[in-house]
Amino acid sequence: MTDVIFQPLSFRNLTVKNRIFRSNISGRFDNYDGSGTQTRINWELKFAKGGVGAIISSFCPVHPRGRIIPNYATIERDDRIPFWRALGAAVHEHDCKFILQLSHGGRQRDIPDFAHPKGQSSTNDPDPLHGFECDRMTIADIKEVVAAFAEGARRARDAGLDGVELHGANGYLITQFLSSAINDRKDEYGGSLENRARFVLDIVKAIRARVGRDFHLQMKISATEYNNALLVLKREGPGNTVQESAQVCKWLVDAGVDAIHVSTGSSFPHPRNPAGADLDVAVLATTYQQLAASGTNTFRNLLLFHNHLTAELFRKQWLDAGVPKNQIEGLSLADSRVIKQAVPVPVICTGGFQTASVIRKAITNGDCDAVSMARTLVANNDLVHQFAAGKDRADQPCTYCNKCLVHVVEHPIGCYEQIRYPSYEAMVQQIMSVYQPPPFQ
Ligand SMILES: Cc1cc2nc3c(=O)[nH]c(=O)nc-3n(C[C@H](O)[C@H](O)[C@H](O)COP(=O)(O)O)c2cc1C
Ligand code: SF4
Repeated sequence: MTDVIFQPLSFRNLTVKNRIFRSNISGRFDNYDGSGTQTRINWELKFAKGGVGAIISSFCPVHPRGRIIPNYATIERDDRIPFWRALGAAVHEHDCKFILQLSHGGRQRDIPDFAHPKGQSSTNDPDPLHGFECDRMTIADIKEVVAAFAEGARRARDAGLDGVELHGANGYLITQFLSSAINDRKDEYGGSLENRARFVLDIVKAIRARVGRDFHLQMKISATEYNNALLVLKREGPGNTVQESAQVCKWLVDAGVDAIHVSTGSSFPHPRNPAGADLDVAVLATTYQQLAASGTNTFRNLLLFHNHLTAELFRKQWLDAGVPKNQIEGLSLADSRVIKQAVPVPVICTGGFQTASVIRKAITNGDCDAVSMARTLVANNDLVHQFAAGKDRADQPCTYCNKCLVHVVEHPIGCYEQIRYPSYEAMVQQIMSVYQPPPFQ
């Protein structure tokens, strides 16, 4: 019998050749204005060549105010379509599907772009970690953003991509509406779970009205929010429970969603996502300077990362709020199981996966139908081929050190865990390989 990892997975409108999805991850590869480059294509090809069944893109803004960081390709205008068409075609050459993550950051951003210094949200409260300010969205703003998501889906379809994912997880705009901890509205978009889910359900209905039923649409959701994991978040509540999220997923499926992608945590990053075995505050002290002038808390945070004692306290608090290293692989499987029992559509689970036997067991146990992997594939781009060759785990697995995460706002994305390489030079060469072939040829 075929290994369950290599059995195709059929959604209503899409079949993927195996059960490994590349989870959303990328670096600042594109132009400041949101137009895409060859470097992003090179990045995605690493994973398509590595054997994953489908790639789910990183955060792709559907609206000019929805960007979280400059130099990520966007899909807010029709003239973006040719880039995504070229990227999709390149990925398809390797028998790999491509799903675009339609996103809006709301109040949560990494580096606000100069054109839109203030975010939008369900609330007026700035994001608690960095203090990025935002405007509470009016009903007219909501309608405009809902329409932008629908247009994003239409553009993805016109570009020949295989589907779209709503970024409804990890503290971005959709979470800011869904979350009982963040959403403080008094109108029909706040209060009860039904009201908090109205925004994302409006988006799903608008997408279905725009592209019809025959285009793949999935939703990434933070099943349990653990919103007050850090001291800085204690004044807000814990956020949504997995039972509340399961109810939201049922409504999503009724409205036309074809799959659920289960994540965790009400912010990004969050101690549980990407769950780390360490947090390199020395690197954070250098890369965080990119943020220092933008939010009301960012200069304070920068000083905190520069002082040895406070940096160590932050690191300890961050790690204590996460999970021990030996529990990182599959940390959201219990949540995934609850969601899977609630909905009739396939469920993809993310978080730490990199061992074939663990993945196989998760699928055969009925905890999920597929897994998505980000850092673990950054560390070993060809892990799926290694599984196919009978290997249970890579010789040099991802250590969950999260150095890729703390580098990403300033440096090219890649694996920065030097102990995984024979030398520093070998590490640099691997990271810089994403620039081959170069943009101008
Ligand atoms: C540097 C970095 C960037 C990420 N960017 C995104 C993103 O754009 N959208 C998203 O939904 N998740 C994003 N994630 C989360 C991953 O997709 C994944 O769900 C998470 O890291 C857990 O999987 P892993 O343990 O295999 O890394 C990012 C993670 C990292 C480390
Ligand atoms: S830097 Fe490398 S080893 Fe560390 S978490 Fe990222 S991919 Fe894994």
